[in-house]
Amino acid sequence: MVVAIDGPAGAGKSSVARAVANALGFTYLDSGAMYRAVGLAALERELPPSVVAPALRIELGDRVRIDGHDVTEAIRTPAAAEAASRAAADPAVRAALVVQQRQIVGAGDWVAEGRDIGTVVAPEAAVKVFLTASPEERARRRAQQIGADLQTVLAEQAIRDERDQTREHSPLEAAPDATLLDTTGLPLEQVVERIVALVRRARADAQAGG
Ligand code: CDP
Repeated sequence: MVVAIDGPAGAGKSSVARAVANALGFTYLDSGAMYRAVGLAALERELPPSVVAPALRIELGDRVRIDGHDVTEAIRTPAAAEAASRAAADPAVRAALVVQQRQIVGAGDWVAEGRDIGTVVAPEAAVKVFLTASPEERARRRAQQIGADLQTVLAEQAIRDERDQTREHSPLEAAPDATLLDTTGLPLEQVVERIVALVRRARADAQAGG
């Protein structure tokens, strides 16, 4: 079974998806880490992301590795985030990563987090959630997380939001059958509880329907 959690930066996807995976005993997939890995590798190798993406060996888990090198921290810098956002606008990069992501979630139980999980990677997902929060709340969370200045984060976030929403290929948008969840002012535990309840209901419906 796939639980798809999509939404913009800072909506709380990572913490929520990890906690939901823990609560259900599912495996967590951070698809954004893959775009970050491609962005970082393109920066370091001074090559276009579309050239780097198909040949890159990305290992995900407690640590993130590119071709064996640990990049867990390196992919979280603002420069890597910006490179990821640019790489993610390239259809060749998306095609390469979506193939890998479909393979990953094709077997077993997954909580997959990203921008296009419910729309492109796993449109058949049993549960789809689109997490949102106000831009100020999202920037505040991110600034706290990375220890950066709020106004700078807010400005960078606006640029990335605009690029995510207006790119031609797989722009950030909720799947028509996704449950919208606004996490502004909502504690993590409550967001997790709601999603776990959706999964339980989907399971019960599947059993009832045969
Ligand atoms: O942490 P944040 O939400 O800012 O970013 P992320 O989830 O780590 O993703 C990094 C970048 O990859 C974002 O700017 C997205 O544009 C892109 N991305 C995407 O296009 N599709 C996905 N499924 C996941 C991430």
